[in-house]
Amino acid sequence: MSLASAPVRTAETSVPLLPVLAERWSPRAFDPVAPVDEDKLTAALEAARWSPSAANTQPWRFIVARRGSEAFDAIVANLMGFNQVWAGSAGVLIVAVAELVDAEGKERRWATYDLGQAVAHLSIQAHHDGLHVHQMGGFDVDGLRRAFDIDESFEPVSVTALGTVGDAESLPEPLRQREQAPRTRLPLADIVVVND
Ligand SMILES: Cc1cc2nc3c(=O)[nH]c(=O)nc-3n(C[C@H](O)[C@H](O)[C@H](O)COP(=O)(O)O)c2cc1C
Repeated sequence: MSLASAPVRTAETSVPLLPVLAERWSPRAFDPVAPVDEDKLTAALEAARWSPSAANTQPWRFIVARRGSEAFDAIVANLMGFNQVWAGSAGVLIVAVAELVDAEGKERRWATYDLGQAVAHLSIQAHHDGLHVHQMGGFDVDGLRRAFDIDESFEPVSVTALGTVGDAESLPEPLRQREQAPRTRLPLADIVVVND
C-alpha cells in the first residue's frame, strides 16, 4: 500500500499541531510483504539516539528484528495472544530495553522515562518518513529475557511494530472495527490540573 492511500486518522485538536503529531496513529494492519527502507529505519533509530535523557545517561538499548529473521520470530513468540494476531505482519519489531542501573549498581531513576521519550522520537521520525508505528506492552517479559539473554540490570519495557500500514479489512474482528473507530483522548481541561 502506498502512502497516498494510507488511511488518515488525524487528531481533532483545539489548536493546530505539527502535522506529524496530529497525524500519527497506531495501526494494527501492517502490509505483510512491504520491506522497511533501511535508511528510514536508521533514521528512526537515530531519532531515538538523539533524544534527551537524564544527565545524558542514554539508558536505552534496542533489539531490532526484521520480518523473516530468527530474532523477529522470537519476539512474535513472546507477544501476548492478541498482539500475535497482527504484529507479525509488521516489517520490523523493536524491543525497547531500559538500563535500570549504572556501572556502580545505582538505580537509574529516570531510565524508563528516558526510554519512553526515545521511542516517542523514533515514532515521530518514522511517521514523518511515511512509516507507521504501534507500541505494545502486552508481551512476556521473562520470555524475552530468556530469548535475548537480558539480565536483571536491564528491563524490556515495550515492543514496537514498525512498517507500512496495511488494509484494515485484513484484520479479524474486533480488531477491524477498532482500527476504524474514532481516536479519542481526555479533554485538555481534565489533564492540565493546574493552569495558573
Ligand atoms: C506503553 C504502551 C503499551 C501499549 N500496549 C499495547 C498493546 O499491548 N497492544 C496494542 O494493540 N496496543 C498497545 N498500545 C497502543 C495504544 O493502545 C495506543 O497508542 C492508544 O490506544 C492510542 O492510539 P493512537 O496511538 O492511535 O493514538 C500501547 C501503547 C503504549 C504507549
